[in-house]
Amino acid sequence: MRGVLLAGGNGSRLRPLTRALSKQLMPVFDKPMIYYPLTTLIMAGIHEVLIITTPENEIQFRRLLGDGGQWGIRLRYATQPRPGGIAQALLIAEDFLAGEPVALALGDNILHGPGLGRQLRAHSAVRGAHVFAYPVADPTAYGVITLGDDGRALSIEEKPLRPRSRYAVPGLYFYDSSAVKIARDLRPSARGELEITAVNQEYLKRGELHVSALGRGTAWLDTGTFADLVQASEYVRVIEDRQGQKIGCVEEAAWRAGLIDDEQLRALAEPLLASGYGDYLVRLLPGVRPVPSSGIGSGETR
Ligand code: DAU
Repeated sequence: MRGVLLAGGNGSRLRPLTRALSKQLMPVFDKPMIYYPLTTLIMAGIHEVLIITTPENEIQFRRLLGDGGQWGIRLRYATQPRPGGIAQALLIAEDFLAGEPVALALGDNILHGPGLGRQLRAHSAVRGAHVFAYPVADPTAYGVITLGDDGRALSIEEKPLRPRSRYAVPGLYFYDSSAVKIARDLRPSARGELEITAVNQEYLKRGELHVSALGRGTAWLDTGTFADLVQASEYVRVIEDRQGQKIGCVEEAAWRAGLIDDEQLRALAEPLLASGYGDYLVRLLPGVRPVPSSGIGSGETR
């Protein structure tokens, strides 16, 4: 399975923050936003990812993430000239996917919870589509899915004014190789976009839309508004500080997945020592004093 990480869009709801910097490069506490979904993909067992950015911002993403070799993964890049919808990512990625199934992740979605990696790895051989359902207080801002008593999807709608359920669909979608063809046959919605919800609706029509509800202990954070951005940073800071474990740490995920060895992790840590981030990485290594439960991520230098 290959990954597609969508990091374009014009960030209009975060202006002026996004005038000179892409939304997905903004800090969420101690790392750029895109680290979080990239870590999620690595935890899902995906090692080849296409990053889709705007043409103007591509260079910054390349500078930050490179070719992925430092983390034992392969990163490729493509651009989306204007935000024509999330489903357009499937068309842009067509050559990269080469008929393989895909995990499509939105660059501004943060997922964190126990057992998530294991849960996601189960979808690497998806037949049809697999999406997630997450209860939220106000579902009107999202794709909303209704589930039957047996947990099967009954309906899915994009930003309904009167939602039929409390279940929003987070920005992480697993599709088999039909997704590109489905996206190709879509017409733009009223807002002029190829909607990812329309792709999911087509799978639903075929009886191939699978869904699992994310457990109560899982956090799905949105970074759409100024307040969301601060909340996401706060969440990460509180958990990292309390547990002494980082969230969305690409280096750690790559090391735990066996994509890089101890020496490579140590080398990655070296230039990051001054911020405390590198110190965290070093202390993951066997034989090194474990990370204490406080002070981590506080930006202190040692
Ligand atoms: O966050 C999950 C939600 O994401 C889903 O529940 C919705 O079904 C889905 O439509 C989407 O809703 P949003 O209103 O949050 O989508 P937004 O337009 O904000 O785009 C999400 C991210 O994808 C954002 O970081 C920008 C990027 N993007 C978006 C579009 C439309 C692109 O890179 N290119 C695009 O063309």
